Amino acid sequence: MTQQLRVYVPPHPLIKHWLAVARDVATPSVLFRSAITELGRWLTYEAAREWLPTLDITVQTPLESCPGTVINPEAPVAVVPILRAGLGLLEGAQTILPLASIYHFGLVRNEETLEPLCYLNKLPEKFAPQTRVLITDPMLATGGSIMAVMAELIARGVDPSLVRIVCVVAAPPALQKLSAAYPGLIIYAATIDETVNDKGFIVPGLGDAGDRIFGT
Ligand code: PRP
Repeated sequence: MTQQLRVYVPPHPLIKHWLAVARDVATPSVLFRSAITELGRWLTYEAAREWLPTLDITVQTPLESCPGTVINPEAPVAVVPILRAGLGLLEGAQTILPLASIYHFGLVRNEETLEPLCYLNKLPEKFAPQTRVLITDPMLATGGSIMAVMAELIARGVDPSLVRIVCVVAAPPALQKLSAAYPGLIIYAATIDETVNDKGFIVPGLGDAGDRIFGT
């Protein structure tokens, strides 16, 4: 069976609500930040389905023993927020994945060439085998940033089939690049938007997520 990139857009009213709040140009920074936190929470909740490893155990209730399922505490889980804007999704993601290790990765796009420049790389030299990695970034636009992060992860031993990307708005150019390089990759997004303009902004999008989160 040939593998294909999968983009899940969960049809959940809370995800739709917080997306609309984030898109609104009149939303002030403090509320924008809340909206992105909530989207991080609910999209990570969806991404954890059939991804977080579980263990079947026997639980002793006050009355008798019965089968139970718990999250496997031995299985390594990591979150990689792409700075700055990915930090906005991290808080919500951590409420779902409280035991995950967090590895920061700082990228900024050159405003003219749109090429990403790495200014912080806290990734480990090698990830433990079978590490599940969740990448957070609100916007996949031209795809330069996410492709740079994926390349760093693969070089450090990460299996792309164990990667989940949580983003708010995904645009076709980024999805085309990811699909060509990593068929089988799974993405969770609040929406797929139509296009990217010549300044690298997703349209209709939500503006510059980093600036809106941090009020700059
Ligand atoms: C934005 C966004 C993504 C990137 C997407 O970050 O948060 O990381 O652009 O664009 P691409 O798909 O075309 O690479 P930006 O460079 O504005 O930095 P910031 O998060 O610090 O605001």
